[in-house]
Amino acid sequence: MQLIRQIRNMNIIQSAATHRSSSVAARKLFYPSADRNKEPILSVLREYIRSGSNQNFLEISSGSGQHIAHFAPYFPQVTFYPSEVDTDLLGSIAAHTKEFSNVQVPVLVDVTTNCDCWGDKTFLENSLDYIYNCNMIHISPLACSIGLFKNAGKLLKQNGILFTYGPYKIDGIISPESNVRFDESLKARNPEWGLKDIRDLEKLANENGLHLIEIFDMPANNKTIIWKRE
Ligand SMILES: C[S@@+](CC[C@H](N)C(=O)[O-])C[C@H]1O[C@@H](n2cnc3c(N)ncnc32)[C@H](O)[C@@H]1O
Repeated sequence: MQLIRQIRNMNIIQSAATHRSSSVAARKLFYPSADRNKEPILSVLREYIRSGSNQNFLEISSGSGQHIAHFAPYFPQVTFYPSEVDTDLLGSIAAHTKEFSNVQVPVLVDVTTNCDCWGDKTFLENSLDYIYNCNMIHISPLACSIGLFKNAGKLLKQNGILFTYGPYKIDGIISPESNVRFDESLKARNPEWGLKDIRDLEKLANENGLHLIEIFDMPANNKTIIWKRE
């Protein structure tokens, strides 16, 4: 079953707490887009993250760390694992998240590599409840999407969920026009970047034991896609 749902644009609540410590604040990076989309994404996570204890959530490409810092207080039953391939960002992620007891220290993860070596073998096969990836698929080569689905297929438990967020092509068509221009600008920066087609991602998912169960329309012509491990 595939459902398409609308997430209304919500009021953005800026967290004063994230700006309060001067020494830490100096190391925190703030992405405006992460501030804009964190609340709509949280509303999707609330629909899929269960109430049971001892659950875990790995974020691939945590960027500044703003997202996990926003989500973690709402899900005390979940242990969050931020990760990044860019070592320059690990300090910002740690600065944003260190006050939360349910967030682990960020680990270096290149999603194109085999998960066996991530975080000093922190992640075992069939051990994760949730994997989350925001705004990486279109700003990276196809190899990153391949790695994401391949590793999600290994790491997620049966019925585990992969959340992906960003703009997508559907059946070869990009819309609206602003996303067409965005795709062109990404390809101008790197010919291997650009919006990926949901149908191609679906094939990739299916090859790795995942299937698409729901698509949420998000603000600013983005989507959150829910992929479930069989
Ligand atoms: C546009 S940023 C998104 C950051 C964050 N998720 C957000 O939404 O604010 C894209 C991220 O993808 C990461 N990335 C690129 N290649 C990657 C790879 N091979 N493995 C893991 N992350 C990668 C980059 O380091 C960057 O932080």
